[in-house]
Amino acid sequence: MPEKVLVTREIPSAGLRLLEDLDVAVLAAGPPAREELLEAVRGASGILSTVTEKVDAELMDAAGDDLEVVANMAVGYDNVDLDAAGERNVVVTNTPDVLNETTADTAFMLLLAAARRLGEAERLLRSGGWDAWGPMQLTGPDVWGKKLGVVGFGRIGQAVARRARGFDMEVLYHDRYRNESAETGARYLELDELLRTCDFISIHTPLTPETKHLIGQGELDLMQPTAVLVNSSRGPVVDEAALADALEERSIFAAGLDVYENEPEVHPKLLELENVVLAPHIGSASIETRDKMAVLSAENIVAVLSGEQPKTPVNG
Ligand code: DGY
Repeated sequence: MPEKVLVTREIPSAGLRLLEDLDVAVLAAGPPAREELLEAVRGASGILSTVTEKVDAELMDAAGDDLEVVANMAVGYDNVDLDAAGERNVVVTNTPDVLNETTADTAFMLLLAAARRLGEAERLLRSGGWDAWGPMQLTGPDVWGKKLGVVGFGRIGQAVARRARGFDMEVLYHDRYRNESAETGARYLELDELLRTCDFISIHTPLTPETKHLIGQGELDLMQPTAVLVNSSRGPVVDEAALADALEERSIFAAGLDVYENEPEVHPKLLELENVVLAPHIGSASIETRDKMAVLSAENIVAVLSGEQPKTPVNG
């Protein structure tokens, strides 16, 4: 009897094809209701999850003793309880690397759009409110030649830094560890100094207890009134209410966000503000990258269920 694998959401067929020899159930197009998930997971040896599912002790216990692997189709795995997995000898995997460049493209897209007021400009045009070219109309700060501060200088942060060099930007970074050898020529700064100094701040840290609200009111206060903040990592890294206040008071110029504290909810004030570009968590959403993420997740499931080492485990 083939082992049961629950795929919690519809994923690209490139990934599903690799699971053909297993007993696969694909649960839902949208985020599954918790009760539905708890029911569907029964007897599963593998779960292919996404960031919209909380994979905790309750879910693993609902799966039962056969559960061997949780393959999270994301680089971030803050939705998976690693301790609970460890206690149950469940291997957890993620999808690093395959999404670095695509997610860096998204961060840079938000940076440009926020600085050059693309969302506001498009809303003006579509509403019929654009009556003529204007010498002062919709001006925003240049991006090229400015200072970019990357918070979290891992693989995605470094990919953003490479893009910045094409825009003749000076790249500074902050991380727990110095990474002077990176090809980007970036210079390390303490977080406070980075926030004070840089014209653009782009956040690329994982969400951990240490990085929750890493950027709060105190940190926003350090930023220049001309500064732009971009977050394409995880919503809770930024205190969304404090950011909304800073944008409303114009204590920073603009923000570009792809992630939110309570997705899919967005702080109501942000929805009203012109100086924030809002994307619905599309950081890795290119066709090619989502295919690769699905394939890697499926490969990890097949490997563990065949008694082999998965390609990208995040726990022992
Ligand atoms: C990730 O990979 O962590 C993304 O947020 C999901 O695309």
